[in-house]
Amino acid sequence: MERPARLYGLWALLFCAGGGGLAAPAETQPPVTNLSVSVENLCTVTWTWNPPEGASPNCSLWYLSHFGNKQDKKITPETHRSEEVPLNERICLQVGSQCSTNESEKPSILVEKCISPPEGDPESAVTELQCVWHNLRYMKCTWLPGRNTSPDTNYTLYYWHSSLGQILQCENIYREDQHIACSFALTKVKDSNFDSSVQIMVKDNAGKIRPAFSIVPSSSHVKPDPPHIKSLSFQNGDLYVQWKNPQNFYSRCLSYQVEVNNTQAKTHDIFYVEEAKCQNSEFEGNLEGMICFMVPGVLPDTLNTVRIRVKTNKLCYEDDKLWSNWSQAMSIGQKANPTFYITTLLIIPVIVAAAIIVLLLYLKRLKIIIFPPIPDPGKIFKEMFGDQNDDTLHWKKYDIYEKQTKEETDSVVLIESLKRAAQ
Ligand SMILES: *[C@@H]1O[C@H](CO)[C@@H](O)[C@H](O)[C@H]1NC(C)=O
Ligand SMILES: *[C@@H]1O[C@H](CO)[C@@H](O)[C@H](O)[C@H]1NC(C)=O
Ligand SMILES: *[C@@H]1O[C@H](CO)[C@@H](O)[C@H](O)[C@H]1NC(C)=O
Ligand SMILES: *[C@@H]1O[C@H](CO)[C@@H](O)[C@H](O)[C@H]1NC(C)=O
Ligand SMILES: *[C@@H]1O[C@H](CO)[C@@H](O)[C@H](O)[C@H]1NC(C)=O
Ligand SMILES: *[C@@H]1O[C@H](CO)[C@@H](O)[C@H](O)[C@H]1NC(C)=O
Repeated sequence: MERPARLYGLWALLFCAGGGGLAAPAETQPPVTNLSVSVENLCTVTWTWNPPEGASPNCSLWYLSHFGNKQDKKITPETHRSEEVPLNERICLQVGSQCSTNESEKPSILVEKCISPPEGDPESAVTELQCVWHNLRYMKCTWLPGRNTSPDTNYTLYYWHSSLGQILQCENIYREDQHIACSFALTKVKDSNFDSSVQIMVKDNAGKIRPAFSIVPSSSHVKPDPPHIKSLSFQNGDLYVQWKNPQNFYSRCLSYQVEVNNTQAKTHDIFYVEEAKCQNSEFEGNLEGMICFMVPGVLPDTLNTVRIRVKTNKLCYEDDKLWSNWSQAMSIGQKANPTFYITTLLIIPVIVAAAIIVLLLYLKRLKIIIFPPIPDPGKIFKEMFGDQNDDTLHWKKYDIYEKQTKEETDSVVLIESLKRAAQ
């Protein structure tokens, strides 16, 4: 369409410039009158006009309108056009009249009306104004201070959506590293008709910076909450993962990623799931929001750790870029960590043995202190005079004698000190 139109324009130009007295090939209508522009909400811009004066009575009037460079061309019978435009730049609408909806009909002379951004230094406006709609529950917007602004600038964020009925101010603005952020509740109920965009404006209390605008389409910039894994199970050599989707989403409107890490094989597999469904009917429960996926070729006798994340898909949403956080990880299978087992197998008996030895020594000590051994002189004498020729026996006897004498002295000392303590 672009090319013939341009050619036609060129031809008309040559024709008019050179032709002099020749009439235009087709009768065109007079231009529209009283074109004006106004802003509602934060950035709903409406252009209105009146029908042309002196239009042919045989003509049923249609209006062609477009932004510069023939963008967003529309031919309608209405005498107004509304668009949501972020007013960060000057924007102009051109309007002409014609007698049919035929795009190739030459319209009247086009009339143009522009709207400029609010007053102020463009460099002072905040930059990188971005909003993410978390789980269709609250929206969080972040931005960076503009250049040429004082660091103690106090920002305010205003937002508007048709369901709110009025412009609201975001309450608590906070800093987040380099960025400034503000979050406000905005809920989309599952079945609600939530078509129009959210309009955002950030300015400062003192009116020193130029306001910045953003328009968030109702079906984009959505970051779902992470899903929750409910169960993992092995059936016929396949791993079945069952999870619960975040609230506020239809299962068919989400895409999934299932991550399976195998600790032993040190593998890291990611499965992209467009449509989550298990062949096994057992898992297709009637539970709402429960989703199942079968992961093939997972070794059951090793430890597998599974995580899932979700994002919106093109079936229901305009963009599909924001992944949710990963879900909590869940593991299944046997822990087969050989070094761990060997260490455990070696260290535990050693510790137990050491404990027993210490305990036995301690008990013996305790027994000696509590029940000092009563010396048996008869036995000693018998042994002493038993067999004098056996050297080893002699040594043994001597040993016992020594020890017992010592213990006897010990207990005597102990008794002595006890006596002293009692006095
Ligand atoms: C344009 O607006 C003026 C003033 O509001 C009005 O007098 C005039 O009739 C309008 N023109 C048309 C064609 O409606
Ligand atoms: C309007 O249409 C009628 C019949 O179709 C025709 O006779 C008349 O000349 C037309 N008027 C103009 C201004 O074109
Ligand atoms: C539009 O106009 C062109 C020429 O003016 C004509 O060839 C074409 O058939 C028209 N199309 C329609 C849908 O009326
Ligand atoms: C921002 O607010 C604080 C406290 O209300 C005030 O001290 C400061 O001057 C304000 N900054 C500007 C640029 O107005
Ligand atoms: C996602 O992870 C980030 C960073 O760990 C955390 O700050 C945020 O709260 C998480 N969001 C959700 C919805 O859990
Ligand atoms: C799985 O392995 C990858 C790559 O080594 C790692 O980035 C990820 O954190 C692991 N996942 C879990 C749940 O540990």
